[in-house]
Amino acid sequence: MSYQDRLLKVIPGGAHTYSRGFDQFPANAPQILASGKGAYVVDPEGRQYLDYGMALRAVHIGYAEDEIDAAAVAQIHLGNNLTRPSLIELDAAELLVDLIDSVDMVKFTKNGSTSVSAAVKLARAYTGRELVARCIEHPFLSYDDWFIGSTPLTRGIPQQTLTQTKLFQYNDLTSLEQLIAAHPGQMACVVLEPAATEPPRDGFLQGVQALCRQHGIVFILDEMITGFRWHLKGAQHLYGVQPDLCTFGKAMANGFSVSCVAGRRDIMELGSIEAEGRERVFLLSTTHGAEMAGLGAFVATVEFMRRNPVVEHLWRYGERLIALMAQKASAHGIAHSFKAGGVACSPYYLTLDAAGAVSLPLRTLFCQEMIRNGVLMPWIALSFRHGDAELAQTAHALDRSFAVYRRALDEGVEKYLVGPAIKPVFRKHN
Ligand SMILES: Cc1ncc(COP(=O)(O)O)c(C=O)c1O
Repeated sequence: MSYQDRLLKVIPGGAHTYSRGFDQFPANAPQILASGKGAYVVDPEGRQYLDYGMALRAVHIGYAEDEIDAAAVAQIHLGNNLTRPSLIELDAAELLVDLIDSVDMVKFTKNGSTSVSAAVKLARAYTGRELVARCIEHPFLSYDDWFIGSTPLTRGIPQQTLTQTKLFQYNDLTSLEQLIAAHPGQMACVVLEPAATEPPRDGFLQGVQALCRQHGIVFILDEMITGFRWHLKGAQHLYGVQPDLCTFGKAMANGFSVSCVAGRRDIMELGSIEAEGRERVFLLSTTHGAEMAGLGAFVATVEFMRRNPVVEHLWRYGERLIALMAQKASAHGIAHSFKAGGVACSPYYLTLDAAGAVSLPLRTLFCQEMIRNGVLMPWIALSFRHGDAELAQTAHALDRSFAVYRRALDEGVEKYLVGPAIKPVFRKHN
């Protein structure tokens, strides 16, 4: 039995994130991985791939970074999870509060979804309102019903929940103004990423902040992806905004499972227990939320980033990669069909058909050919360990892949695909 069949037999979806599913990769992708080091992953047969997936963006320094792993192991030797709060729990909380401008208090957990859902719950408790405004362009903020109910995947979600999340557009303040006006006094929070594929237009995030203040709405920035990549102090620092609540995860511990909801004291302390007689909010209470290994890794990640130009490197490498992809696409005569762009520290690529629409068969072909040439690029997540040698390896793989891509544009992509095209994650039916 193949690894894929074994995975699908015992795990619904064959992985613990839908983005890792077989339907997201071409047929020649490794079905399973054995290890990672630096910017590379290795399959059980020992084949090594230069990786631009980087554990769904959780790893931004490099896989198995010795210093960070050692900090995690040191905490494991101290017991890893104790009966009262641990010293590293206090250190990590003080570090985060010190690091992020808008943050007075923080609560740690293991996954991003739980953090963002906790922020939404706090906003509802604080405002006494129920509706959530979320940005339509940001593909994923939580696996919980309040978010997934606003995608096509509504099966299993109560009808009432489906009506409570409303959508507005990124970089379009008017769409948010209209949404708020359509539901006067009912919006608990506005939740979005500071940036995703596009950076914010001048004044957009400040405008969101002002609208929230004006209408008594809690302003939540989800920094799961931007945190520790755009700037050590978050994209909120880079773009000069002060969210009421914010969430971090992914890169904050270079791949260890740490996430958090954090923000203004008067909102966060609704989850506190010391104010006698006040009605309580049951905020993130989990057995493993402050697991010491992860928090040790988080503290070590911040220390590493203070000593090494991680963020500068991501921006510079991304700029070079975008330019390289554009130059190679032009050289192969496919610039009309293959576009590279995005915020430099977090680039993206698009594959377009003759009509200019996004083509998943062409995306599959590109991934397939890159894999044939030793590069796993389902999307682009960069790390500090992507250096000159890795850029050169990418250039070589791009040349070879684009030569096939060019032929496929002339002769038909189906002829060159070795398996089915990848499918969108948020589709209603399999
Ligand atoms: C912006 C954003 N928010 C939240 C999440 C959820 O994080 P996690 O997968 O750690 O639950 C993700 C994950 O992809 C994300 O990209």
